[in-house]
Amino acid sequence: MPAQHDIAAETELWDAYAASAFEDDAEPSFCWTQYAGHGPGPELLGEPRSVLEIGCGTGRSLAYLAQRGIAARGVDLSPVMVEKTTTKWAGTGAEFVCSEALEYLSEHKEVYDAVYSIFGAAWFTDPGRLFPLVRRRLKPGGVFAFSQPPAIPGAYGPQGMYKGGFAGKAMFTYRYSYRPAVWERLLTRAGFAVADARILGAPQPGHIGTLLVHAVTP
Ligand SMILES: C[S@@+](CC[C@H](N)C(=O)[O-])C[C@H]1O[C@@H](n2cnc3c(N)ncnc32)[C@H](O)[C@@H]1O
Repeated sequence: MPAQHDIAAETELWDAYAASAFEDDAEPSFCWTQYAGHGPGPELLGEPRSVLEIGCGTGRSLAYLAQRGIAARGVDLSPVMVEKTTTKWAGTGAEFVCSEALEYLSEHKEVYDAVYSIFGAAWFTDPGRLFPLVRRRLKPGGVFAFSQPPAIPGAYGPQGMYKGGFAGKAMFTYRYSYRPAVWERLLTRAGFAVADARILGAPQPGHIGTLLVHAVTP
């Protein structure tokens, strides 16, 4: 049976995450990996004039880009998170929209120089549905880039994930894991001209690395 996304339930899960993960004193920053200052920076996006972040969470990277003159919009499923980011980053020019990513990409016809996700919606949505939608929302030569943890060997496809411990209300979502070669195949199948997926090692040997994916439209 395929993954059974229940968007209302996932929204509740991410609202709970927002309540604990958002830091009022956060500063704008841009990092693809889970290790501050490690790995490439926003140059992976090229030199965009407009970007869309899908699953933008705390909004720190959008605030960083907006402060550098880029038209920066983010979509996130959690109304709690979007309320917090809209207030927190109001002075930067970044714009935050509360929406499910697939729905937003289907319904809004605006196109961008780059679409990206940092441990965001590209991790939590079916790539078979997401990638063709992202491709349509990019200008020619536009960049799609995302990062997330690498797959655990042998555990591929949608992976069910409960919120918090294993007691209490059953809140779950799915995250999607594949080997780099499979990510590349999914992207070229969705019409991207170039696709590169690789695993960047952690700063410390034996620690969890980061899957980094970069694709360009024809
Ligand atoms: C791990 S957090 C994001 C990390 C983000 N880069 C940050 O710095 O906070 C994942 C985010 O993706 C959002 N999300 C998950 N599934 C989504 C979907 N289908 N559409 C839009 N946003 C989604 C969640 O609400 C959450 O804020």
